[in-house]
Amino acid sequence: MKLPHIPPFKTKVVEPVYFRTKAERAQKIKEVNYNLFNLHSDWVIIDLMTDSGTGAMSEQQWAEIMLGDESYAGSESYFKLKRSVKEIMGFDFLAPTHQGRAAENILFSAVVKDGDVVPGNAHFDTTKGHIEFRKAEAIDCTIPEAFDTSVYHPFKGNIDLEKLEAVIKEYGRERIPFINITVTCNTVGGQPVALANIKATCQIGQKYGIPIYMDIARYAENAYFIKIREAAYKDWTIAEIVKEMFKDVRVVWMSSKKDGLVNIGGFIALNDEALYEKLGQFTIIYEGFLTYGGMSGRAMGALAVGLKEGIEFDYLNDRVKQVQYLAQKLKDYGIPIQEPVGGHALYIDAKRMLPHIPQAQYPAQLLGVEAYIEGGIRGVEIGTLLADRDPLTGKDRLPKMELLRLAIPRRVYSRNHMDYVAATMANVMARRKEITAGFRITKQAAILRHFTVELETI
Ligand SMILES: Cc1ncc(COP(=O)(O)O)c(C=O)c1O
Repeated sequence: MKLPHIPPFKTKVVEPVYFRTKAERAQKIKEVNYNLFNLHSDWVIIDLMTDSGTGAMSEQQWAEIMLGDESYAGSESYFKLKRSVKEIMGFDFLAPTHQGRAAENILFSAVVKDGDVVPGNAHFDTTKGHIEFRKAEAIDCTIPEAFDTSVYHPFKGNIDLEKLEAVIKEYGRERIPFINITVTCNTVGGQPVALANIKATCQIGQKYGIPIYMDIARYAENAYFIKIREAAYKDWTIAEIVKEMFKDVRVVWMSSKKDGLVNIGGFIALNDEALYEKLGQFTIIYEGFLTYGGMSGRAMGALAVGLKEGIEFDYLNDRVKQVQYLAQKLKDYGIPIQEPVGGHALYIDAKRMLPHIPQAQYPAQLLGVEAYIEGGIRGVEIGTLLADRDPLTGKDRLPKMELLRLAIPRRVYSRNHMDYVAATMANVMARRKEITAGFRITKQAAILRHFTVELETI
């Protein structure tokens, strides 16, 4: 008999889950104005709101927590992290930060100015925010296939090379401080970028004298997809693929809360000493001294180990297979999802699941609330609430897609939990015709309304 797949780890410490009745959950979500962000976590059974900072650390990482050197300057934990980054990624200089957006703040303070443009594959919200905050423009050059859920493409995070060159020609290289590649591309659903595409983008950068920067929050998952889907690299190790991905990249920055397998942290890594020195001024103003940035010694130690564990093939294989397992179960129950599934999350298409609910009534939020009431699952709306209002008209922008994102934390949930999630969604699917009305907004903030919005049922 073929032995079944099992995760390459077992449980040593457990965290309790609290069970409430469906009626209690229905009451609670009403009390918090149908905003899933307002729920205390002990009211959630399976929390799929994000994969960021929600993973479980290993025994070696917890050991590093005890070994953390909390010296203000010259912490040994910093040097451990620096050695890990050098070994895995090949960069000599390291600026730690408290998380990914802090790395963006420091890096862009040094290199982005008013009137610049930054082409790249669908920039993450905070990346775009930090570019626009400096009165520069982020130009999306992702391949068009990324935005069509009915088309299969193994690397939907790829850069459209023709579009990239057209943008460079239109704006001129003087206005482009760097080309940005995000791996995997979170904004289009955790979709990977092919190594051939990375290389071709780097060649374009070289041709025009523009450096390539990489946002590497999920670089290890990207390397896994390269190994599995890009024939030329099927016999390469993940470590070899990672080195190849970064070979011609000038600067990387990372939200370590993803593939770093830690709960908080980030960094910028590079080989350019002059730029590193420039970054240092901003690190000191915004984060802290150069050898800790915004991190504690213990957090840097845990990250030094987490980076190594994050590129182990067995771990990555288990992780991506778990996401794919849940996707297949949902499909078997007839639940419409975006395909192919990416590395860290899957997206349920609320427009197809609740076609009778008008988009103006926030169907993806409604689906999220129903999933919560049904089984205590917490996902996150990627739809009209998130898209917010047009700043000129003040009216809701209606995005093309209304999605409920279920992001899977790393090394936290088992296959049983995935079965539970799938059954919950199947029950919602079975009674979807009884879900007859969505929400209206009763209170909303001026910007980023989805975090604090208050809703009532129609
Ligand atoms: C691709 C990408 N870049 C940057 C960030 C920002 O990182 P952080 O949340 O650690 O500030 C995220 C967070 O989700 C991300 O997914």
